Amino acid sequence: MSDWTIRLFEREDLKSVMSINQQCLPENYPNSFFLGLFHHAPRAFLVAEASSSIVGYIMCRIERGISSFGRLPVKKGHIVSIAVLPQHRRQGIGTALIERGIAGMKEYGVAEVFLEVRKTNEPAIAVYESLGFEIKRVLKGYYRDGEDAYLMVKQV
Ligand SMILES: CC(C)(COP(=O)(O)OP(=O)(O)OC[C@H]1O[C@@H](n2cnc3c(N)ncnc32)[C@H](O)[C@@H]1OP(=O)(O)O)[C@@H](O)C(=O)NCCC(=O)NCCS
Repeated sequence: MSDWTIRLFEREDLKSVMSINQQCLPENYPNSFFLGLFHHAPRAFLVAEASSSIVGYIMCRIERGISSFGRLPVKKGHIVSIAVLPQHRRQGIGTALIERGIAGMKEYGVAEVFLEVRKTNEPAIAVYESLGFEIKRVLKGYYRDGEDAYLMVKQV
């Protein structure tokens, strides 16, 4: 068993977070994208730390749109990216990052959160479903390589 904690992202974490993003996901971004999200919603950008190293992150955006649960305009939280290094998975870190990310987004007044996930990404879908996210619809050809995404949503 290893010991880990979740804390707010700091600028000094940028290199580690970008490295985890590159190791874990095909969707990669320039540093301005990470810092832009940090400036936009610092309370919803979190890292997981184990033995003084960053081993996971979640970053989110606050958006406005029509509710997935009705027809009214609402503030929505968007989980833009989350990853945990392979050797640190299945220890509850992903779950804790999402829970803390949602708590952070609620501080900005969101009533629901959503995310996109590859249809074949069973581990991630399992985590989201365990946290009460539901598949709302299929986004055809959402990813650059043509794979479809599920749009998953949750009221918070
Ligand atoms: C998705 C991800 C963040 C999950 O992180 P994690 O720290 O392993 O998640 P947790 O330990 O909190 O898992 C919680 C539960 O989800 C389910 N789950 C997680 N990984 C699973 C897997 N590989 N297969 C089946 N179920 C899985 C299990 O029910 C698990 O609980 P359990 O370990 O007690 O059985 C991680 O797999 C990851 O970084 N994947 C690569 C990046 C990625 O796909 N990000 C999401 C893009 S949308």
